[in-house]
Amino acid sequence: MQIEEIKLKDLNPKAFIDEKIKEIDSTVADGLAINALSGGVDSSAVTMIGHKALGDRLKTYFIENGLMREGEPDQVTSLFHDLGVAVELEDAKDAFFGALRGLEDPEAKREAITQTFYSGVFGRIVRDSGARHLLQGTNYTDVEETVAGVKRQHNVLEQLGIDTEEQFGYKVIEPIIQLRKDGVRAVAKALGLPEEVYDRMPFPGPALAARVQGEVTPENIEIVRKATKIVEEELADTGAFQYLAILHRDRVTGVRNGERDYGLQIEIRCWDSVDATTGSPTKIPSDILYHTLGDRITSEIPGVVSVVYSITKKPPSTIEAI
Ligand code: XMP
Repeated sequence: MQIEEIKLKDLNPKAFIDEKIKEIDSTVADGLAINALSGGVDSSAVTMIGHKALGDRLKTYFIENGLMREGEPDQVTSLFHDLGVAVELEDAKDAFFGALRGLEDPEAKREAITQTFYSGVFGRIVRDSGARHLLQGTNYTDVEETVAGVKRQHNVLEQLGIDTEEQFGYKVIEPIIQLRKDGVRAVAKALGLPEEVYDRMPFPGPALAARVQGEVTPENIEIVRKATKIVEEELADTGAFQYLAILHRDRVTGVRNGERDYGLQIEIRCWDSVDATTGSPTKIPSDILYHTLGDRITSEIPGVVSVVYSITKKPPSTIEAI
């Protein structure tokens, strides 16, 4: 790997931000740049650095891919609006669900999301705008895991030998590529972003699609979205690194009102981890683990008859399901 990591102990967030502002300003010069904001700490930090560097020369989009958590598109755009950053909401739900139709293989699903994002939706926005640069929040861990072949992170392109200029018509600028998550959080805090952003739980680029086994449909996403909301509400106080719900592909036998109900199964994972490289299951308070989670998910989400908790470490598991 050519990229030199900056460890948290060696990071001076303010000096780092100043340096990136200068770099971005001189690279984009009097052209235009574009970036996509998902609301995660990585893309939020890049959005703020980019706006400090470029002001009106940067246009920020929230791509509504239909795969985000409940209320997320509005929450993120209004939070940045309050910070003085205009964010345009681009409705691309049909494009993403169309690209995912019929796909079951995890890497095929990731590839469909990558292509729809960069080539389809973003390619069109960039072409229409005349922007020559795309700012992106790739971090050091994304590159490392992708290059090692563990899991293709959707935002890693150039490190895989993909020439974005030739393939998509724009150049990618990656201001936080030398930082791991802890460094990005320190930078986000120094940028004046609120705690709900700089301390936000990780959420994958492919969003809820990373949590549906088998085909990703609007109906499957709605189920996992409801389960995610319950899991996030109930586990917020655990202080865990990350917690999530997964919709299993196979149906399982259940019983309701004395009758067989062949229904859905939700898996919950709740991780203790420092940087997602390794992880182990959190000790969830027993009332929540044995009662609340199962009761709420089976009563509030139609069709779910089984809820399981993963007791596996990473490795050999990974944090997400696909
Ligand atoms: P895994 O599942 O590889 O996840 O153990 C490690 C961390 O990365 C997040 N993750 C992703 N983030 N794009 C992202 O931006 C992705 O494709 C992706 N896949 C996983 C995951 O939530 C965890 O924090």
